[in-house]
Amino acid sequence: MFVPGKAFFGIGSVSKVGDLMGDGMKKAIIVTDKNLAKHGTAKKVEQILTARGVDTVIFDSVEPEPSVETTDEAASLAKKFGAQAVVGLGGGSCLDVAKAVSVLLTNEGSAANYQGLGLVKKPGVLKVMIPTTAGTGSEVTFTAVLIRRSDGFKGGINDEKLFADYAILDPELTVTVPPKVTASSGMDALIHALEAYTSRYATWFSDMFAEEALRRIGKWIRVATWNGRNLEARSQMQYAAYMAGLALVHAGVGACHSLSYPLGGMFGVGHGVANALLIPHVVRANALCCPERYTDVLRWLGYIDEEAKINPRDGALLCAEALEELLEDLELPTTLESLGVGITEKHFPEMAEKALAVSRPMENNPRVFDKDLCIKIYEEAMK
Ligand SMILES: [Fe+2]
Repeated sequence: MFVPGKAFFGIGSVSKVGDLMGDGMKKAIIVTDKNLAKHGTAKKVEQILTARGVDTVIFDSVEPEPSVETTDEAASLAKKFGAQAVVGLGGGSCLDVAKAVSVLLTNEGSAANYQGLGLVKKPGVLKVMIPTTAGTGSEVTFTAVLIRRSDGFKGGINDEKLFADYAILDPELTVTVPPKVTASSGMDALIHALEAYTSRYATWFSDMFAEEALRRIGKWIRVATWNGRNLEARSQMQYAAYMAGLALVHAGVGACHSLSYPLGGMFGVGHGVANALLIPHVVRANALCCPERYTDVLRWLGYIDEEAKINPRDGALLCAEALEELLEDLELPTTLESLGVGITEKHFPEMAEKALAVSRPMENNPRVFDKDLCIKIYEEAMK
């Protein structure tokens, strides 16, 4: 059991980034996206670092569903600049690329060489992660998920050397996140907690974080989505996403994450949207493997009273329905067809094979998935 790195939480905590650089630190790269560069958030971080005597360069080309190629480009800029530290600023994509850049500064070659488990040889440079969405938990995980543009393969660099040294959780930075992103990233956090709680590798320790995350998300995700200025809701969601990340670090995620990978890799569907759309179907498929656990999830999300007695089978199936209702409340897509990205039934066999190849989450899942079951889930999610 472990809690990686150190986290600073609270309104205004972004100002701590300078203090974390330490003596002798002269150059840092900020890895972010165009949006944060345009709205001045990256400049704000740059000013804090400059005031501390740290020169910075900003890499602002991280795309949603980031690629190996973009990561290599950022690493090349970081090397040329002589960066001694990497500051990740943004959603999960920016943080994933930042974590990968940190180890590419000390390990030769392309990010593609390290996609897999435990392939990174040397520790990276100092990593400070500043999430500006509440969802992916990338600030606390040891994974960087990257797509190879050459063949559409989507896979993680999974290595303990990717753990951030520091995370700064400043809810004020999430206030301008639009409703759709708040909803989809919040659902990603919810699914991390849910899949960790129902993982075959769940422990008392991971359960504690999963419960904490689910209770807060159930209470606050709608408020954070539809009233983004509500700092209490933003704070609760950011804290919950961090807790969900801790649950996932210990217990892993499940089949929903594997099934969502081909939606991102083949069709460019965002991670949170893809997972949210599939989760009710995955819960229904898994329901009878751990019905008590899904009933706990239903309770913690606030759909039944604390003391209400319910048959676990009914509770598990109601959990799938509750998640469908939540997607409607958040106005997130509920069918593959409605995504409008050209997914048809003829793609399902290939998608199923690609999902099964994302073997770690499948291994954690409470039910054994085969190709037929993957196809069945996609069919159910179609219309
Ligand atoms: Fe996720």
